[in-house]
Amino acid sequence: MFKSIIAGVGHYVPENIVTNDDLSKLMTTNDEWITERTGIKERHYRKNRNDSEETTAFLGFKAAENALKNSNLTAKDLDFIVFATLSPDYFFPGCGVLIQEMLGCETIGALDVRNQCSGFVYAMSVANAYIKSGEYKNILVVGAEIHSFGLDFSDAGRSVSVIFGDGAGAVILTASNDENKQGILATNLHSEGKYAEELCNKFPGSKFGWSDRVLTEPNAVSADEIYPTMNGNFVFKHAVTRFPETIMEVLNSAGKTLEDLDMFIPHQANLRIAQFIQKKLNLPEEKVFNNIQKYGNTTAASIPLALSEAIEKGKIKRGDLVCLSAFGSGFTWGSILLEY
Ligand code: ACO
Repeated sequence: MFKSIIAGVGHYVPENIVTNDDLSKLMTTNDEWITERTGIKERHYRKNRNDSEETTAFLGFKAAENALKNSNLTAKDLDFIVFATLSPDYFFPGCGVLIQEMLGCETIGALDVRNQCSGFVYAMSVANAYIKSGEYKNILVVGAEIHSFGLDFSDAGRSVSVIFGDGAGAVILTASNDENKQGILATNLHSEGKYAEELCNKFPGSKFGWSDRVLTEPNAVSADEIYPTMNGNFVFKHAVTRFPETIMEVLNSAGKTLEDLDMFIPHQANLRIAQFIQKKLNLPEEKVFNNIQKYGNTTAASIPLALSEAIEKGKIKRGDLVCLSAFGSGFTWGSILLEY
């Protein structure tokens, strides 16, 4: 049985920074409300909201280039790609194939994962299973999002649109047959589809049969169908229950305890959720890494973006025990426990 080792991590965000004050020029909001409710001070948006070049796949490609630079591998060494996003360049095909071309990889397999905020945890878990089985040796796992093109910047959408940002992160997983080496120790994945519409984007979806109407009726699709919608309080309550469950489950699976943990990286949904989990599990503040203040919630990108920055800042060192956990739309949730 092989073990999955992290060979390299990288991230990339568009240069353009959008502060809470900038948003207050687009809608009725203010820095105090956003900071108090979410902890977010600023986020990155691509410069032009209708740009067809700085796409989700492009952000993922830049993050992947950085991850490759930080490993001893090249794009030609990769033998599989897993790409997690809820904001793909096209409705189909997915971003995995686009990045295969951008990187100049061989004609390797490219899989897209659509598990929103939990997308990166799902993607890592799939990649880990392939590596453990011996099917693939070097897998690129990407989480990337362009949210800025698809948010409702009117007052009706303000409780959702202030939260999200654009960005990407990537991890190269490589196989090792040295049992003593660090690597992924345990994973778990969960879902509860009865809450699908508590946090969702309905358009374009087969359930709603819009395609012909969109072509013939000018206002066939309403704002709350075309933009993401969220039952914020409901999501919050479920998140603060599911996060501790999945963290304890992954620690137990690996025979580890909370005291063994060197760093916890939650999906950057909302700083209040991260602080709630930290208190509930009695984790010291320095053992929880957050960067939502600078990037907002970047959905599938948030965990690799935080992991990459935590490593860059020296907050995670080789051999450290790290837990990555997510909760989000679906509902879906899960964790990865690894020794970096
Ligand atoms: N600026 C100013 N006022 C606002 C804004 C805004 N951006 N958005 C909403 N308001 C107003 C509302 O209109 C409402 O006014 P009213 O009392 O006059 O009707 C008031 O603020 C409170 O609105 P709520 O929606 O009840 O605000 P709440 O306190 O629930 O905070 C939030 C909203 C931040 C989304 C919260 O519910 C939350 O943190 N939910 C957790 C979900 C989450 O973090 N999701 C992230 C994405 S999903 C994921 O990654 C898991």
